[in-house]
Amino acid sequence: MVKKNACIFISGKGSNLKNLINRSRDYSFPISIKLVVSNKKKALGVLHAKKNFIPYLIINTKSQNFENYLLQDLKKRNISIICLAGYMKILSKKFLRNFGKKVINIHPSLLPKFKGLNTFSKILKHKEKKTGCTVHFVDEKLDNGKIISQRFFFIDPSDNEETLRQKTQKLEYSVFPESIIKIFQNY
Ligand code: GAR
Repeated sequence: MVKKNACIFISGKGSNLKNLINRSRDYSFPISIKLVVSNKKKALGVLHAKKNFIPYLIINTKSQNFENYLLQDLKKRNISIICLAGYMKILSKKFLRNFGKKVINIHPSLLPKFKGLNTFSKILKHKEKKTGCTVHFVDEKLDNGKIISQRFFFIDPSDNEETLRQKTQKLEYSVFPESIIKIFQNY
């Protein structure tokens, strides 16, 4: 199969990136990861790019020109999809319009519930019965856009922020790759 070139944006640990790198080794997985972008020089996830010989870019989101620079790079590498995997910045409307291709994000809640930061403490505070993760297309609003896939689990009374994070991330490792497969089948 002809794989689409993908770019993964991260800000932190990069466990979803690591999982996508592993999945993309499968010949039938629809993407090949050609670039990793991080807004944090010391993000642990950058090590996964290095170890796997994937080119990476550290961006300075405070610099005026970074979006233009990034767009040129994405074009040069013929990137067809951007996957936000724990990227904790908002992409501007102008960037999304100029990129003009698919941009998807994974978020650790059942959207539209609990957009933004501190997701797990908000979930506990609201005494939710269940939670999970969502993969959605990105638009100019935070954690918004058409939902591609969601999966949930029931919250146990003994759960805390850390156990919720672990249980959610375990689901993310199947939902994110499945969403990518779904996109290239159905959209
Ligand atoms: C993931 O759990 C993802 O859902 C979350 O950041 C984590 C990154 O983990 N994203 C957001 O909160 C975006 N709003 P990772 O770096 O280990 O993949």
